[in-house]
Amino acid sequence: MTSEDTTTAEFTPGVRIPLIGLGTWPLTGEDAAAAVAQAIRNGYRHIDTAENYANEAAVGEGIRRSGIDRGLLFLTTKFNTEWHGRDKVRAAFGHAVKRLGTDYLDLFLVHWPNPAQGRFVEACEGLQRLVDEGSIRAWGVSNFKPAHLELLAGAGLQVPLNQVQIDPEHGQPGQLAYHRDHGILTAAYSPLGRNGAFLGHPAITGPARDLGKTPAQVVLRWHVQHGRVAIPKSANPERQRENLDVYSFSLSAKQVAAVDALDTGAPPRLDSDTFFH
Ligand code: A2P
Repeated sequence: MTSEDTTTAEFTPGVRIPLIGLGTWPLTGEDAAAAVAQAIRNGYRHIDTAENYANEAAVGEGIRRSGIDRGLLFLTTKFNTEWHGRDKVRAAFGHAVKRLGTDYLDLFLVHWPNPAQGRFVEACEGLQRLVDEGSIRAWGVSNFKPAHLELLAGAGLQVPLNQVQIDPEHGQPGQLAYHRDHGILTAAYSPLGRNGAFLGHPAITGPARDLGKTPAQVVLRWHVQHGRVAIPKSANPERQRENLDVYSFSLSAKQVAAVDALDTGAPPRLDSDTFFH
């Protein structure tokens, strides 16, 4: 892959992540396995799961069912705060790969910082060790606010990626500016705002009509043009295909700015200073 590849981003030396991935929450069991197998057959090469979704085994089953060569797939999972600790992270990794039926991870994330517990720095140190040993290709965090990221920076840890809730109404400009200034790649979860009402806003339906695309495609293209990863969830084959089809058109700077302007300043749905699992 060359640096002209616009469908992936290099966020760790030698590691590229496909900008569009399949989110899998809240799919479980056969629904999750079928959705993952179908997504991979539809061209997805990036699947996102988590210990807390209780679907890692089903996601692994879907991957095997698809028949894809594991090396062609980018697989992310996340661990709960009970595993925060240098050695506990290795145990979390062991459980995750066992459930998934694989022997390595492309990306392993601290799911929530749980600052009251105060052990996320150790968790990240444990993750860096797993990278150094070759068990995981890259590490990152999720739901970390700038204050949490500052503590990691203070401990000498350069965070490659932070997965946070971003959609047109939850633009989180302060969070994104911090990422930009510190070389952290942003991955957006709930990139469509859990079917947000903004999908009907003229700033989105206008370009959709003009470009012959759907509102969801316009929003995902907006994420991609900002250089972000986005992981929309859908089990619907039609929507899976449309969500991946965001590279055959582009938004003008004016159209991007109009979507940016939908930001309401609302904080993310869950406050990572207090919420965790
Ligand atoms: P469904 O799973 O029935 O397709 P997010 O990942 O942003 O949280 O979004 C998930 C929600 O967005 C789900 O309700 C999902 O519904 C819906 N969704 C996913 N893709 C599309 C699409 N292309 N158009 C409209 N809604 C979508």
